[in-house]
Amino acid sequence: MIKKFPLVDNYHRVINYLRLSVTDRCNLRCIYCMPNRVFGFMPHSEILTYEEMLHIVSLCIQQGIRKVRLTGGEPLVRKGIIGFIKRLYHIKGLEEVTLTTNGVLLKRFAADLRECGISRINVSLDSLRPERFSYITGRDYFGQVWEGLEEAEHVGFNPIKINVVAMKGVNDDEILDFVNLALKRSYHVRFIEFMPIGKQNEWNPEKFVSIDKIYRLIQSTWDLIPVKSNLYDGPAQRFRIEGKQGEIGLIGALSNCFCSRCNRLRLTSEGHLRGCLFSDQEVDLKTPLRQGNGDGHILRLIRSAVKNKPKDHGLVEYGSPKCARQMYSIGG
Ligand code: 5AD
Ligand code: SF4
Repeated sequence: MIKKFPLVDNYHRVINYLRLSVTDRCNLRCIYCMPNRVFGFMPHSEILTYEEMLHIVSLCIQQGIRKVRLTGGEPLVRKGIIGFIKRLYHIKGLEEVTLTTNGVLLKRFAADLRECGISRINVSLDSLRPERFSYITGRDYFGQVWEGLEEAEHVGFNPIKINVVAMKGVNDDEILDFVNLALKRSYHVRFIEFMPIGKQNEWNPEKFVSIDKIYRLIQSTWDLIPVKSNLYDGPAQRFRIEGKQGEIGLIGALSNCFCSRCNRLRLTSEGHLRGCLFSDQEVDLKTPLRQGNGDGHILRLIRSAVKNKPKDHGLVEYGSPKCARQMYSIGG
């Protein structure tokens, strides 16, 4: 039975969006996500099977979730991902499935993704310079990502969103290059503030670039015209430029906390439901599921995760990483 009333947390936020991490594995080693680049990934037996994910997602939908974003790690490295997405679409009540990818395997998968119904994709890309890309990601795959973007365009994804994590002294001299890319290729380029996630993710105040600074830099060359956000826009402040296609988005994860409008839950690849990226409070759904507990029990756990969703990330007060897990293990 699909719930008619929305799922509302203790702070009157309607929770309708689930970010689902389908794997903790990744084919890149980004400095801000896997800093020392040597990791023990979770044993396969700890990762939810597709069957288990479908079950949990359908229970979340009964509770009011309407949109699912697939994340990782890198979702396209998990075997059978296309078949899984097709089955996701069979769940009644799910309105939209989107995907965040690093683009390395996009050339191979773009057509299949489009065909199985993925409506929009976000591609993470932090540099347009191959050598710098290799430094940031630990892998020499810039060419592959670029070809992946071309293929995504070719099969009709529109718009294509590009996520750029802005880091001072690393890629902040490429901000206008990315703006030019947005204008030339009609992409939606979104600059994201570098967040302190995980124990040693190389975050420090010197590497931080605020969206305010990025706005001023772009505005010194281009006249940014605000675009009205719609319900599904999430946290980005959107802008366009007169006479041009493409868009610029600014995501002020730290400086412009959007917690009061947060509509999301996260399901980690090992089956823990998380209310907030920055809070290590998690509800384990996998163990009770594998112990054979019924849907009523799991539904109660989902509601408790929503009830306990923190009011905000508190990073402004604490300033330093509050969340011990790395991004790849939570789901970006
Ligand atoms: N700060 C900001 N963004 C991050 N991402 C991963 N780690 C961080 C971080 N520490 C981004 C990735 C990707 C999305 C899933 O999350 O670049 O675009
Ligand atoms: Fe992989 Fe994304 Fe982490 Fe980079 S940020 S290592 S692409 S999971």
